[in-house]
Amino acid sequence: MVRLGAQMSFLALLALTAAVSSALGAEDSVGATKLKPDFYVNTCPKLPFIVLEKVDAAIKKESRMAASLLRLHFHDCFVQGCDASILLDDDSRLPLGEKTSPPNLNSVRGYEVIDDIKAAVEASCPKTVSCADITTLAAFWSVHLTGGPVWIPLFGRRDSLTANFSAALDFLPSPFSTNQGLKDGFKKVGLGVTNLVSLSGAHTLGFSRCAGLIPRLYNFNGTGLPDPTIEKGLLSTLQTTCPQGGDGNVTVPLDPTSKTFDNRYFKELLLFKGILNSDEVLFTQAKDTKGLVETYAKNQTRFFNDFSASMIKMGNMKPKTGKQGEIRLNCRKPNSLLLEDAEPLIQLVSDA
Ligand code: HEM
Ligand SMILES: *[C@@H]1O[C@H](CO)[C@@H](O)[C@H](O)[C@H]1NC(C)=O
Ligand SMILES: *[C@@H]1O[C@H](CO)[C@@H](O)[C@H](O)[C@H]1NC(C)=O
Ligand SMILES: *[C@@H]1O[C@H](CO)[C@@H](O)[C@H](O)[C@H]1NC(C)=O
Ligand SMILES: *[C@@H]1O[C@H](CO)[C@@H](O)[C@H](O)[C@H]1NC(C)=O
Repeated sequence: MVRLGAQMSFLALLALTAAVSSALGAEDSVGATKLKPDFYVNTCPKLPFIVLEKVDAAIKKESRMAASLLRLHFHDCFVQGCDASILLDDDSRLPLGEKTSPPNLNSVRGYEVIDDIKAAVEASCPKTVSCADITTLAAFWSVHLTGGPVWIPLFGRRDSLTANFSAALDFLPSPFSTNQGLKDGFKKVGLGVTNLVSLSGAHTLGFSRCAGLIPRLYNFNGTGLPDPTIEKGLLSTLQTTCPQGGDGNVTVPLDPTSKTFDNRYFKELLLFKGILNSDEVLFTQAKDTKGLVETYAKNQTRFFNDFSASMIKMGNMKPKTGKQGEIRLNCRKPNSLLLEDAEPLIQLVSDA
């Protein structure tokens, strides 16, 4: 049993559920589906706690896993909605998937942890809980267990039948984006400026590889010089860790308290100590985002509130319904392939 406090807070959230679920509207932007806080209350009542135990153990084993699971949910949602498309392994019988797309390759982590959670959930509630919902809940607990806020997470997503290599390229924002580029990228998936700045605060956790920094450190935007906005001390530290032509897989923390979900990230931006170009431009390139950075640096509660609301909005992106999706039994494969591959050893009954 881990973190009685965390379990209690989840129960408190569920108690609130009945009162708020109608008030929330719980409807995605298309208005097609209603994700609900209590979707699994009858069919898998232990779900939140199974996932909590597993995420807690994974973070104890490697603290960075909290960051990786949070990012996994984001990279899932931005590409054809939160549908676990990112979890599908490439297979010659499927369209080329997202795992090997440049924004994800050698970068996104946590797939084994999701497999492990899925196995535990299947053991307790077979064929009931989608991989997309497991990913959502893993991100939720990762934020809470590192000191961040809780909100009322919504469930009822179905898993995609395919993934899309080129959509990952089209929809995942680049760390080299300008402020306007970031705004455009978020707008394309229905998210606004407050969502952009508060969700960027996820970079309070975790690491970046040198690969995503080297252009900024040595040849910013083709100038042959470092980004002039990087604070000088940080620049020299980063240049030491990430030499030109060095190992692109070496990592640097995204803020100085990278195991703790707090508002330090925003305080660093005020000091021109943002790690990614896409971090610092929130402060340097536009008044609206700059104002929010200053607000969150001063007021962590405000950051936590906006972050929570934005996580719900991001989590509501294009949920699949009915035959558009399924409850995958193995997060890495659509059920149709699982059937083909398992034949004739196991007879799976399609629940579609
Ligand atoms: C605003 C646009 C964003 C850009 C351009 C961006 C880009 C990046 C990049 C380049 C990395 C380092 C990856 C690597 O080197 O392998 C990273 C890490 C990370 N990102 Fe973002 N990101 C953005 C928004 C978000 C959002 C919305 C979230 C979640 C809500 C998020 C969560 C994370 C986390 C937690 C990490 C650390 C992951 C780890 O240590 O495994 N990011 N991001
Ligand atoms: C994959 O995504 C691209 C957009 O990035 C879209 O044009 C294409 O239709 C998608 N392919 C499938 C099969 O959904
Ligand atoms: C890079 O340079 C181009 C053209 O000089 C400019 O339009 C663009 O905004 C610059 N990008 C950044 C990130 O500063
Ligand atoms: C990082 O590591 C991966 C896998 O170990 C390797 O394939 C890749 O080439 C490395 N990337 C860089 C930028 O060094
Ligand atoms: C911080 O933000 C919260 C939530 O928006 C607000 O209630 C509180 O008054 C703010 N605190 C300060 C010192 O401005």
